[in-house]
Amino acid sequence: MTESTPAIVFAELAARRASLLARSVADLFAANPARYDRFHAILGDLLYDFSKQRIDAETLRLLLSLAEAADVAAKRDAMFRGELVNSTERRAALHSALRDFSGAPILVDGVDVAPAIKAERDKMLAFAADVREGRVRGAHGQPMINVINIGIGGSDLGPAMAARALAPYAQPGLHSYFVSNVDGADIADTLRGLEPARTLFIVSSKTFTTQETMTNARTARAWIVAALGEGAVADHFAAVSTRLDKVAEFGVEANRVFGFWDWVGGRYSIWSSIGLPLAIAIGPEHYLEFLSGGGEVDAHFREAPPERNIPLLMGLMSVWNRDALGYASQAVIPYDQRLARFPAYLQQLQMESNGKSVRRDGTPAERPTGPVVWGEPGTNGQHAFFQLLHQGTEIVPLDFLVAANPTNADAHHHDLLLANCFAQGEALMRGRTRAEAEAITARQGASPAEAARLAPHKTFSGSRPSSTLLYSRLDPRMLGRLIALYEHKVFVEAAIWDINPFDQWGVELGKELASRLAPIVADAQADLSALDPSTAGLIAHMRALRG
Ligand code: F6P
Repeated sequence: MTESTPAIVFAELAARRASLLARSVADLFAANPARYDRFHAILGDLLYDFSKQRIDAETLRLLLSLAEAADVAAKRDAMFRGELVNSTERRAALHSALRDFSGAPILVDGVDVAPAIKAERDKMLAFAADVREGRVRGAHGQPMINVINIGIGGSDLGPAMAARALAPYAQPGLHSYFVSNVDGADIADTLRGLEPARTLFIVSSKTFTTQETMTNARTARAWIVAALGEGAVADHFAAVSTRLDKVAEFGVEANRVFGFWDWVGGRYSIWSSIGLPLAIAIGPEHYLEFLSGGGEVDAHFREAPPERNIPLLMGLMSVWNRDALGYASQAVIPYDQRLARFPAYLQQLQMESNGKSVRRDGTPAERPTGPVVWGEPGTNGQHAFFQLLHQGTEIVPLDFLVAANPTNADAHHHDLLLANCFAQGEALMRGRTRAEAEAITARQGASPAEAARLAPHKTFSGSRPSSTLLYSRLDPRMLGRLIALYEHKVFVEAAIWDINPFDQWGVELGKELASRLAPIVADAQADLSALDPSTAGLIAHMRALRG
């Protein structure tokens, strides 16, 4: 018997495409009353419903065999074993180790890193408790009331998103801020009105070389020095990095420097010391719950049978939509205002991981890889871009996220929120036929001719795919689960596409050119002749606008 390969299964999936597109999802529901039962999976108090996807049982069977043909399980196990799965950087990708409380050894290059992980986490959490309980004091002896994280990308999005998501767990009177953009407006607007004597900065950067972060850190340092003197720097700064040598040069005291390791990718680093601002905001206990939530998903991903394995199914639905159905973008719509930054977080996680055109061996990818990921919270999005989702020529598969229970007291608001979330999924799936549209308009009093004229505009094609993650409530553990689910979803996609999701060479060229252009932008006399005509033209015009 010949062994199946991803290419063979992709061909079989492509062959199913036409027959599936010929039937509406509403028809598939009508033909199979058990469809919902078949196409959802549960992990404790979290449910993943993918029954509104444009699939049938045979498609799912093929997708599961695609995962087998692509060796997803073996690749997953290699990642968890600490093998050098990030082949271009010759690194492991062991962020899962940071949320592993099993007590088992975790080997990287033959060395058990579990004790070092615990030691660094204990040190970081002790500092977080000291800040919260007023033992970390400023140069004038006052407790800190403002904690400002300076970082960008993975050193910003995770803690910023999570601190917002878990706002109900924040300590009253202790304010978290996040500065990321090199645009000076970011730090200026953040610092306005804050008291330097009660402000703690955390400079977070895996490499401690990132232009934006270093520029903002120097501005913050100058702000502290101007108000409190050079001697105050040690009291008002902490740092998180893998480059302890560079942190020392900046002048942060060793007992306020929290490390992590090169086997933790930036966009996977919320589980490491990069979580310090979150731990300060929500407290060590809640932070540990957050880590445990991630760990539960690791166990699920490793142990749940494929047809009930949520990250595997999420990855497979994504690959189906991207490659077989050709949908180039995916939207993530949290019906959860506190998850407002979750789509931005997922943009880095998914697009930096899987925005690749070559396979692990350097040959061209065989099919489209990472989709464009975007989103905004519902219900706001309904009143903005949902028009296109319902009636546009582009089809955009959606993930809805919603909690059964509110974190605030107002049940009425929450009932409306849930009703809207469920209604959107239903409307996208069911659609409205032309005859229905015409009949509704006629019932509203329009003449038959008017009803017929408006009918095309009021028709909805339906069969627009969405999945829903429905969970009990947004607490630290659940947030940890949600993040880890998406991390592994991305891993599954990459395993199928045979790309390395753990490097990000695509960000390098722009960084190099920005460094080259910075002195040219700053110097009004600099020679532009070596630049391309467009860039030279822009700089010349910028000079004119600056007068
Ligand atoms: O430019 C992309 C990137 O390298 C991300 O991968 C990373 O999360 C971000 O920059 C910040 O990097 P660092 O933590 O080293 O400052």
